[in-house]
Amino acid sequence: ADATRTVVTLDGPAGAGKSTTAREVARRLGYRYLDSGALYRALTFALLEEGVDEAVWGDLDREALDALGVTVAPVEGTLELGHRGRVLGDELRTPQVTARVSAVARLPAVRRWLLRHQQALGRHGRLVTDGRDMGTVVFPEAGTKVFLQADLDERARRRLLDQGVRAPGARERQQAAEKLAARDHADMSRETSPLRPADDAVVLDTTALDFEEQVEAVVALARRVDPEA
Ligand code: DC
Repeated sequence: ADATRTVVTLDGPAGAGKSTTAREVARRLGYRYLDSGALYRALTFALLEEGVDEAVWGDLDREALDALGVTVAPVEGTLELGHRGRVLGDELRTPQVTARVSAVARLPAVRRWLLRHQQALGRHGRLVTDGRDMGTVVFPEAGTKVFLQADLDERARRRLLDQGVRAPGARERQQAAEKLAARDHADMSRETSPLRPADDAVVLDTTALDFEEQVEAVVALARRVDPEA
């Protein structure tokens, strides 16, 4: 139980900069990084790839989820996701997966199944993890909890930049913002583990922060718990 004091959780809406921040924070602290959104994405990818009809997604039980062929392997500093021997990278970020992942993430059986896996990965502490419910549900005992926030327009701008769009037109920005808003709404209004800051989370608005500032803010909080890191 004590080892989970050195778990650092970063939760928040899509596009707030969680993954890039978490990855760099983990590198500076010498901790492992767990991208929990990628777990939901890997399951979504497997369901689409295996042609499981969306009408029965709600009936999937633990055995059915075990049988989907999703694998998680620890590799230098992070966790590698796979599906039946294929290493998953860009496959996790396709528009198809992104469009369906909220539907998968709201299934209680999926959340229960991933909960056990995620907690096992954090058992020894020294982990930086990002998602929606890492501080509230998965690691309630984490010693450092951050909720990253940013204005919708700024998140849309960053999301497009990630996709290589440097100078988006007004319409493109509007569409990206609408997609983010729809996913925020789905993530915040679902019944199981809705997106919200933990009571003991530090809320960090990154709209006006640059990358170095937000990384340092989180690193400083984590070092209060683990001065050796
Ligand atoms: O962070 P992301 O965009 O990769 O997350 C993908 C989806 O997974 C997101 O819409 C919500 C869901 N998710 C979740 O419900 N709980 C988490 N801890 C992480 C992600």
